[in-house]
Amino acid sequence: MESILILGATGNITKATAQLLIRKYPEISLRLASSRSAGCERLREQFPHADVVQADWYDYESLVNAMKGVDRIFIVVPDFVTDENVATPNIIKAIQANGKIKQVVRLISIPEGLTAEKLGEEFLATQCGANTSTIAKPLFDASNIPMTYINVPCWIMFNLEMFLAQEIKASRRLVMPSVTDADRLWVAEQDIVDVAAKILTDRVEDHVGKEHVLTGQVRYNYAQVAELISQAINDTVTVVDDAEPLKQAMGDLYDKLMTYYRHEVKDYLAVKPTDTIEKLLKRPQMTLAEYLQEKRSLFV
Ligand SMILES: NC(=O)c1ccc[n+]([C@@H]2O[C@H](COP(=O)([O-])OP(=O)(O)OC[C@H]3O[C@@H](n4cnc5c(N)ncnc54)[C@H](OP(=O)(O)O)[C@@H]3O)[C@@H](O)[C@H]2O)c1
Repeated sequence: MESILILGATGNITKATAQLLIRKYPEISLRLASSRSAGCERLREQFPHADVVQADWYDYESLVNAMKGVDRIFIVVPDFVTDENVATPNIIKAIQANGKIKQVVRLISIPEGLTAEKLGEEFLATQCGANTSTIAKPLFDASNIPMTYINVPCWIMFNLEMFLAQEIKASRRLVMPSVTDADRLWVAEQDIVDVAAKILTDRVEDHVGKEHVLTGQVRYNYAQVAELISQAINDTVTVVDDAEPLKQAMGDLYDKLMTYYRHEVKDYLAVKPTDTIEKLLKRPQMTLAEYLQEKRSLFV
């Protein structure tokens, strides 16, 4: 029986991937990790049939322990807080010490050609998106570990719920600072989760050494997103240039996020749409309009 370890399994993408793996592939032995004991407790409640371990990528021994008997690993790191110069070398060292890991799947976000050198210290310090991925990927690439990357160089649709839904529900206003507006590609989190589960359950040799780039097909700025939400809820949503709700939502991380946006609004504009999701899953990917219809209750 194959064993898959998910590091940071309490996360948005990782938890949904664990749920899908359990539902679709009950024969797989799943080991779920959190860096916190409260996270482990929650995982034990939510996944009573999985093996739950505490593993922190700043604690090498905990990684070695979590990887015992494991065939494949899935890694997603959180934005704003991850020190890739410590976490990824620890993960690599533990995988090399194990010696038996057949595949490591890592979620990244890198527009083609962008590097840590090009980003520079100011943006790397935001520890967000490409600013973690462009540090981690070269380290993994140099390690000879059997890697598969899921590269998502665009917005994940769950940002709508995280940043916009509350204000739209309360006042029919899409409120964001206008300097953060851009023509963006959007990918549904469910499509990423379906791709991750497929890659983790296909034959290892089908995906090792590959970078699967997932994007949306159509670019939308805030006005166009507001128009799509208006259609989904049969009511008019207007775009308002105001930083306050984002400040409230982000707290201490607001300045980091605003610095991040200064690179993000331009560095992702040249990303070309791919048909990777459709090719891998043999079904159409979810459009933003379909997503909004499905998530309508978030906004009304
Ligand atoms: N938002 C977007 O539009 C977008 C677009 C493209 C790519 N991305 C990328 O998607 C990723 C975020 O995805 P997400 O929202 O699914 O992630 P998330 O919910 O932030 O999950 C990350 C997990 O990492 C775990 N973690 C934190 N510190 C840890 C440590 N020291 N050791 C081990 N585990 C640790 C956390 O679990 P515990 O606290 O329980 O340990 C957490 O559940 C980011 O890398 C981001 O760049 C986002």
